[in-house]
Amino acid sequence: MAAGETGGMAAVRCAGKIGVAASVAVNLAFLVMYIRRRYLGGGGSGGRRSDDEEITVVEPSQGKPPVTHDSIVNLDHGDPTMYKGFWRKTGNRATIAIPGWQMMSYFSDLSGFCWFLEPGFEREVRRLHRLVGNAVVDGYHLLVGTGSTQLFQAAIYALSPAEDGTPMSVVSPAPYYSSYPSVTNFLNSGLYRWDGDANTFEGSNSIELVCSPNNPDGGIRKAVITSKSGKTIHDFAYYWPQYAPITETAAHDIMMFTVSKCTGHAGTRIGWALVKDTEVAQKMIKFIELNTIGVSKDSQLRAAKILKAICDGYELLPIGEANRLFHFAQQKMAERWSKLRATVAASGIFSLPNQFSGYCTFAKETVTANPPFAWLRCHKDGVEDLEAFLRKHKIFTRGGPRFGVDGRVVRVSMLDTDEAFNVFIDRVASMK
Ligand SMILES: Cc1ncc(COP(=O)(O)O)c(C=O)c1O
Repeated sequence: MAAGETGGMAAVRCAGKIGVAASVAVNLAFLVMYIRRRYLGGGGSGGRRSDDEEITVVEPSQGKPPVTHDSIVNLDHGDPTMYKGFWRKTGNRATIAIPGWQMMSYFSDLSGFCWFLEPGFEREVRRLHRLVGNAVVDGYHLLVGTGSTQLFQAAIYALSPAEDGTPMSVVSPAPYYSSYPSVTNFLNSGLYRWDGDANTFEGSNSIELVCSPNNPDGGIRKAVITSKSGKTIHDFAYYWPQYAPITETAAHDIMMFTVSKCTGHAGTRIGWALVKDTEVAQKMIKFIELNTIGVSKDSQLRAAKILKAICDGYELLPIGEANRLFHFAQQKMAERWSKLRATVAASGIFSLPNQFSGYCTFAKETVTANPPFAWLRCHKDGVEDLEAFLRKHKIFTRGGPRFGVDGRVVRVSMLDTDEAFNVFIDRVASMK
């Protein structure tokens, strides 16, 4: 039969075979794609559009209203939106998608020390500290909290009351982070109470909050209370290379960190604590268990992916600004500080704390600190309440009395959007 075939028929038969083979290949490809999507949660290269459309059905809120030339500039909160430019460029390296059926249980790891801690989050946190060298992780329990704000409350709960059953005195040297007094006294607890400036505290049984670099003035701090009965909590929200040189690998009893200020993802509400003592760590876990029955697993997974993107950017990807968060952030902060210092120097009525530098073991060079807040003092006659004075210029800041000091000084966030920061600079430049 073959001998009797015309060349045209052979070509048709040949084309038919190719067609069958092609159709089998296409079907196989669809089958593989279906299995990957259905059972592995992955996406194939074809047909992505509908998946992406489904994913973006969730519309995010916009946060604060945009700033315009003559609008209010709200620099009262340290809302760290300035790193958005970096994260926009990381694309899927920092993106997660959680199928509806996943992450439903309350529990993360029943065999671990902290049952609500996602192992993937713990892994990336420890990896990040080893990369940056800002804190010892070996020999420490790692706990997760809904922001470090929850961990702070868990920590003062765990360290209280004093041995004789009286309330512990919670103190911090002025100027101290304004949330410390309000959060400590909020529930009027019998276990602890806010007792003000650690520099003037004379009692015993204290918990000293050591914030370094310090919110609001950016100072590098050590504990001022040295008595044996004094306990410390180190708040290292800003001990990251964009804000200050990393000069030592900290190893204190309780050290608190947060993604809010490290990566800028304040809305994810994830913080963590490194805790040396097992009993203290267990009490902190109990607090979080009773307070919120654990911590959002979705948020922990998002935070893990974000921290992984940072570590990969330094350890696995080519060297480049687009991959290195701390370098991007440090440069941006330095640009802002140089603009602000020039503006303040030209004003003649304002001053800022002195700049300081140090050898940074992470950057492997001497770097200048770029605090997250400007601690701005006014020397103009008649301005006793600087917060009110700036408010008249539609600039919202937080006044000294909230930090335990006088009203001629305010805290101004350096972490807001470029628009807000630039309008702030223009307005300060116009004040004489
Ligand atoms: C010193 C300090 N600690 C803790 C926090 C709270 O961080 P989080 O967003 O993790 O609750 C802040 C937030 O501004 C802060 O400035």
